[in-house]
Amino acid sequence: MARYFYVVMVLSLLVACDRRSEEHNKGDAKKGEVAQEQEDAMTAIKKARTFYAERPYYERPRDYSEVPEGLGDTDAETCGACHKAIYEEWKISTHHRAYKDDAQFMEELKKSSGLTEHSSGDVGWVCVNCHTPTYPQLERLVVDLEDDTLNKPVYADNPLFDPAQQEDAITCATCHVKDGKILGPYGSDRAPHPVKKEESLLDERVCASCHQASAQYPEHNLGCFFSTAEEWRQSSYGQKGESCQSCHMPEVVRKVAEDFDVPERKTRRHWFGGSLIPKKPEFAAELEPLQKVYGSGITFDLSLRGKEAKFTTSAEPINMPEKHIPEVVSCAKDCMVLKLDIRNNRAGHHMPTGDPERHIDILVEVHDANQKLVARAYHVLGSRYAWWPKIKLLQDTRIPSGEQRELLVSAPLPGAEVKYPLSVHVTADKWRMYLDAFEHHQLEGKYVRGRRFYDAQWLLGEDSALSVVKIEDDGVKD
Ligand code: HEC
Ligand code: HEC
Ligand code: HEC
Ligand code: HEC
Ligand code: HEC
Repeated sequence: MARYFYVVMVLSLLVACDRRSEEHNKGDAKKGEVAQEQEDAMTAIKKARTFYAERPYYERPRDYSEVPEGLGDTDAETCGACHKAIYEEWKISTHHRAYKDDAQFMEELKKSSGLTEHSSGDVGWVCVNCHTPTYPQLERLVVDLEDDTLNKPVYADNPLFDPAQQEDAITCATCHVKDGKILGPYGSDRAPHPVKKEESLLDERVCASCHQASAQYPEHNLGCFFSTAEEWRQSSYGQKGESCQSCHMPEVVRKVAEDFDVPERKTRRHWFGGSLIPKKPEFAAELEPLQKVYGSGITFDLSLRGKEAKFTTSAEPINMPEKHIPEVVSCAKDCMVLKLDIRNNRAGHHMPTGDPERHIDILVEVHDANQKLVARAYHVLGSRYAWWPKIKLLQDTRIPSGEQRELLVSAPLPGAEVKYPLSVHVTADKWRMYLDAFEHHQLEGKYVRGRRFYDAQWLLGEDSALSVVKIEDDGVKD
């Protein structure tokens, strides 16, 4: 079996390289040189395929594929000429923004590639396999590791490299091109390109190939902590088999190739919306309408727990070295206690999930009728690791799917010092990264660190009645 596969692989490479060289062969003066170039190119691709095939799946790009018959290349724009709506949706997705448009990634890549003061060796080749995953997107191919060491890659020039495709990041071909065929969920026979039915497009497998990678490389101070698919498997959605696509690719009925004589059918949007934090300030406007389509993973519910003679807090103290954590203000004796329920009842995995820098800040501030601050509570949902000298999980306060947490806030009872009604203000912000890293990489103006997704206010009267003043919540879907 293995040997058969190898033969097929070599043959398909020959076909591909032959086709590429036809143009060059017009005049035969340089024939010898071209043949040599062709052989070098083939050798590089062949060696790279052999090398990657032996690495764990999260260290590999998508396998080399010929361009499917009938298409000039596998550029997203090429697909977009026929699949117009899908192309427009994908263009504003974070998948499309995962390379040059992502100033944080470009900074981290520099560091990971051994190009900054504090980096040790080059593991950048691992990063690009998930962020620019197809062969034409890779500037260089890896053919070996010196001393079998992860941060000492041996590179070869990539004859297939196309800078335009590199900028497309997680492009159509990532999920849809393999072995010279277009992979599709249904196996249409109406397409002007070869189609192969691929069941894994209909479940979590297609997403897990990138959104599940837990690996540690202690010797390089490198850790991958994406457990979204595993979290999903343990959630009620995973148990029911309700896929990633059911939330992140909403259903729609339409033609999938607008200018062709094909029927309308049930298909899925390609926005892949999540937190919808734009990668750059100028992308905010195009993402805004999607906030109502996707909502957020978390809901809040404020209620009055009542008067208590003695108050003890229930919240775990926050052990996050984030700057500017506001000081807690709390009443200890003869208090009015409020309860904020924080529920992860919309996401099929932890909130937040994925990248370990991602976190959510929740702030409750209570002022009295004279605008005096009388109570303040603060909570962070997130995970925090120490990277140096050893990788160590310091704290994980994320909320698993379907679970909830209480944040208690205690204010003084009405009296000479404190005038009711009290104004209770709750805000929640989600962030892609911690402030210290944002400042370290000098990303202000080039990158958006986060956004507010919840802002609400209540009045609490002396009669213990809570009344809503406002609730602005992109968590509520239309
Ligand atoms: C991250 C993976 C991913 C990327 C990137 C991606 N798609 Fe898809 N695509 C899917 C999945 C998953 C489905 C199947 C959805 C379903 O019907 O359940 C799909 C379905 C489709 C379909 C078939 C629609 C149908 O219902 O038959 C077309 C056509 C398509 N994609 C084109 C594109 C084009 C063009 C691009 C680039 C602009 C693209 N896709 C980018 C994952 C992806
Ligand atoms: C010249 C027009 C054209 C181009 C270019 C094109 N497609 Fe298609 N594609 C079609 C048509 C037409 C269909 C059939 C639609 C149907 O059956 O409803 C189709 C079907 C598909 C399907 C669905 C397969 C299934 O399972 O039913 C996918 C996925 C797809 N194309 C992806 C791509 C990708 C990715 C590219 C670029 C690499 C691309 N297409 C380029 C016209 C095109
Ligand atoms: C080839 C790797 C790859 C595959 C396959 C993939 N993703 Fe992603 N995805 C990424 C990367 C990388 C990012 C982060 C981009 C960034 O933040 O710069 C991302 C970001 C996202 C986001 C965040 C969007 C936001 O608002 O910022 C969501 C949601 C998402 N992917 C869902 C999916 C789903 C659903 C699938 C399967 C249909 C999928 N992804 C398949 C690599 C992948
Ligand atoms: C029940 C619906 C649901 C399911 C199922 C689901 N998600 Fe999500 N996902 C969400 C919601 C809601 C958010 C959070 C948006 C927010 O509030 O920031 C989210 C956030 C994300 C994010 C983070 C995006 C960001 O920009 O912060 C990624 C990545 C992601 N999901 C990937 C996946 C993958 C991969 C799967 C399948 C293994 C999956 N999701 C299954 C609803 C779902
Ligand atoms: C196994 C695939 C994979 C590899 C390898 C990988 N990433 Fe990612 N990366 C992702 C996914 C998936 C996301 C986004 C979704 C999430 O956070 O869950 C992401 C997001 C990011 C983000 C944006 C985080 C945010 O919240 O906006 C940065 C920066 C990043 N990666 C840098 C790197 C660097 C640097 C490397 C190499 C050391 C790397 N990645 C390797 C899959 C990968």
